Amino acid sequence: MTVTIVGSQLGDEGKGALVDLWGGDADIVVRYQGGDNAGHTVVEDGEEYKLSLVPSGAVRDKVGILGNGCVINPRTLFSEIDDLRERGLEPDVRLAKRAHVIMPYHRRLDNIEEEAKADSDLTVGTTGRGIGPTYEDKAGRRGIRVGDLLDRDVLRQRLEYVVPKKKSLIEDVYGLEAGEECDIEALIDEYAEFGRRLRENDMAVNCGDFLAERREAGENVMFEGAQGTLIDIDHGSYPYVTSSNPTAGGAATGSGLGPTVVGQGEVVGIVKAYLSRVGEGPMPTELKDDDREEELADYIREKGGEFGTVTGRPRRIGWLDIPMLRHAARVSGFTGIAVNHLDVLAGLDEIKVGHAYEHDGEERLTIPATTEEWAKCEPVLKEFEPWPDVDWSEVAEEGYDAIPDAAQDYLDYLAEELDVPVYAVGVGPDREQTVQLTNPFDE
Ligand code: GDP
Ligand code: IMO
Ligand code: MG
Repeated sequence: MTVTIVGSQLGDEGKGALVDLWGGDADIVVRYQGGDNAGHTVVEDGEEYKLSLVPSGAVRDKVGILGNGCVINPRTLFSEIDDLRERGLEPDVRLAKRAHVIMPYHRRLDNIEEEAKADSDLTVGTTGRGIGPTYEDKAGRRGIRVGDLLDRDVLRQRLEYVVPKKKSLIEDVYGLEAGEECDIEALIDEYAEFGRRLRENDMAVNCGDFLAERREAGENVMFEGAQGTLIDIDHGSYPYVTSSNPTAGGAATGSGLGPTVVGQGEVVGIVKAYLSRVGEGPMPTELKDDDREEELADYIREKGGEFGTVTGRPRRIGWLDIPMLRHAARVSGFTGIAVNHLDVLAGLDEIKVGHAYEHDGEERLTIPATTEEWAKCEPVLKEFEPWPDVDWSEVAEEGYDAIPDAAQDYLDYLAEELDVPVYAVGVGPDREQTVQLTNPFDE
């Protein structure tokens, strides 16, 4: 059985919380794309874990795999593993030998390119983690893979080819000075040492084979998507996207199990009850048009703690966008959804959602394929009756019927529009503060 968790909006939907909840029934948790641009929060008994690279299942002693579709910064990985060890956990993390490695020059180039775009409206607002440049090298067939770290000679050969190219890019194209990120000998020493550590701890695997064997033995696999549908490189608001496929198709290509395996399982879209976005790009339902909207956005931002897990940047805030969710449900073929942050909207005197868009005098139910057209869409708002603030821990204990009626209406509307059932409702950050209707591993 597999369960795939996908962000249905712009990232930070609270995926980590659901991976943690349902990960209890998984034997293996697999990240299939992205890298340390992700920031997933797991809260257990008030203890908070912020994970960028280690799969969220690590907090539950599951085997965590970084699949071939990921880009891995070994510096981040080992420092995260060491931190978790210091907190008394023993994370069992394996890396696909086919996954690509984020090198120091990738990070440098990520920042240089953002800087170069700073005066145009092409700035993406990346996390600066080197994600895009690493995927570029993967597609350009000049990347360094985890498997290459295991053999110093191979690593040397790859770096001796690629580093001079990065150096001339930094110096000749951007007119800057290359630094230690282009010191081949130092890179070989540091990264071969990472390779030694991977070998010593038996951490590098053939991901597809590893997963297939465990599945044959009857184990459950959870695919942990990072980022979200609208920052997917194919289905998102290009160019304001990340460089991978967070949508469900990525779970197959990024792990080495077939689409039929992923498709036979459950695919759960994680929905935040409103919208947040870090970085640039259109957001038709953004709350920013007047003082009143800005005040509301500030209130939600504070109450929901909407500041980037990785970068600390304040997140942009908007009403829930239903055309966006219809798009996400189709792209990934959701079998169910989990709706988080219902508690954050409690006690407001108005609740709205973008039910449709108006574009060129016509009403549209889904998002246009070009970002320029999307940016021109005006939301057609639908009002909902607000729900009161209540003791959400009590609600979580009592179950679905304890959720205020108006909030239940909101959830019913969502399920109907997307034509999928609600599997869970998040009413607070803690593992205990989720109302579960269906465990996808029981489906
Ligand atoms: P992810 O990247 O999708 O895993 O989400 P993040 O961890 O970046 O951001 C979600 C934030 O919301 C974290 O601080 C979570 O602890 C918190 N969170 C998750 N679900 C809920 C919820 O239902 N209510 C509230 N108030 N916070 C939640
Ligand atoms: P999780 O997994 C929200 C955004 C960045 C930027 C764009 C490209 O925590 O939901 P990148 O560094 O990936 O090249 O940046 O994507 N972004 C995220 N936004 N949540 C994330 O991850 C994100 N990962 C990247 O802000 O707009
Ligand atoms: Mg996050």
